[in-house]
Amino acid sequence: MKSSQTYIDLEDKFGAHNYHPIPVVLAKGAGAEVWDVDGKKYYDFLSAYSAVNQGHCHPRIIQALTQQASTITLTSRAFYNNLLGDYEKFITEYFGYERVLPMNTGVEGGETAIKLCRKWAYKIKKVPQNEAKIIFVEGNFWGRTLAAISSSTDPSSTTDFGPFMPGYQIIPYDDIPALELALQDPNVAGFMLEPIQGEAGVKIPADGYLKKAYNLCKAKNVLFIADEVQTGIGRTGKLLACEHENVKPDILILGKALSGGVLPVSCVLSSHEIMLTIKPGEHGSTFGGNPLACAVATEALKVLKEENMIENAAKMGDILRAELNKLKSKYNFIKLVRGRGLLNAIVIKESDKINAWDICIKFAENGLLAKPTHGNIIRFAPPLVINEKQLLECIAIIDKSLSFFA
Ligand SMILES: Cc1ncc(COP(=O)(O)O)c(C=O)c1O
Repeated sequence: MKSSQTYIDLEDKFGAHNYHPIPVVLAKGAGAEVWDVDGKKYYDFLSAYSAVNQGHCHPRIIQALTQQASTITLTSRAFYNNLLGDYEKFITEYFGYERVLPMNTGVEGGETAIKLCRKWAYKIKKVPQNEAKIIFVEGNFWGRTLAAISSSTDPSSTTDFGPFMPGYQIIPYDDIPALELALQDPNVAGFMLEPIQGEAGVKIPADGYLKKAYNLCKAKNVLFIADEVQTGIGRTGKLLACEHENVKPDILILGKALSGGVLPVSCVLSSHEIMLTIKPGEHGSTFGGNPLACAVATEALKVLKEENMIENAAKMGDILRAELNKLKSKYNFIKLVRGRGLLNAIVIKESDKINAWDICIKFAENGLLAKPTHGNIIRFAPPLVINEKQLLECIAIIDKSLSFFA
């Protein structure tokens, strides 16, 4: 058997260096746990950036995958297939929308939402051609394509990748007056944001921000576009994070856990009016809506509800934050604990002695996997199937690891 270092060296030698992983080599996963090539067990506190909400290798999702994989996997949209219609009916009813446009990755969901919004702006709102504007907030993250990084305020996403896409305006996050001002431009077509900013470090806006922003958009006939690729599918203790403020986005983007982390499945949900502005041949994807994805996503959404994962996320999240707050009182280098449901983070006061990377390495040594985001922030987002006993074991690992730095 190869050693961990052999696998790491192979990636280092033959792969592009566009990631900087924690040095563990994973070979197996089940529920909230993963194992490395040497058989060492870890709790997964990242859940593949919230794609594995339903837990690693959920038996029902894997059963749906394997059964469909041996029947038919891909037809392309040149033909109909016998799963897509049922899936479209199921997912629109599940989330309370009229229509769905299936894609694959989260970033394609974002691209699709922007294209739909622009099309709607020209066809329905009657914005002059090529003048439509989309508003974003600082710190947003929705992927790595050129359209996505064009809205980014993170230099590591943008440096040396210009020129960028026009038609965007970026305003401060969680700032209603800034939004009000931006919305004065009659060519604004949409306002796109994550209800909680995931990659920026689990940043939660002030209570009422989403609702106020939504109402301002409505008053100006501007589409409210929610990127729930990371926050959706139960992660924050509600099916959608927008539900915390009773907001129903005009366009909703989902990805990641839509497949339970089994394969890339994303989608955009919206109304007849918005969705039907795009006509045949104007947008698409070879793999979007493939039968394998339909089977897997249907099962992934079913198990979420049938196995009460959303309620569990809310309950376990409350316990996790209560315990983390106790650790914050114990270790003065923890500046902040924040989160909703099982999307949480701690902010570390960095010093010469302590940084988030070293803490994550210590977590890994002790059997828990987490990753720093934006330098001094560590996200804690275990699969939603974690139980209380496991969670308390994780707290003990976190405590033991932090005590090393005290
Ligand atoms: C909020 C949000 N939107 C979109 C994306 C992009 O998803 P993908 O990596 O599947 O393209 C991400 C990925 O982290 C995300 O967190």
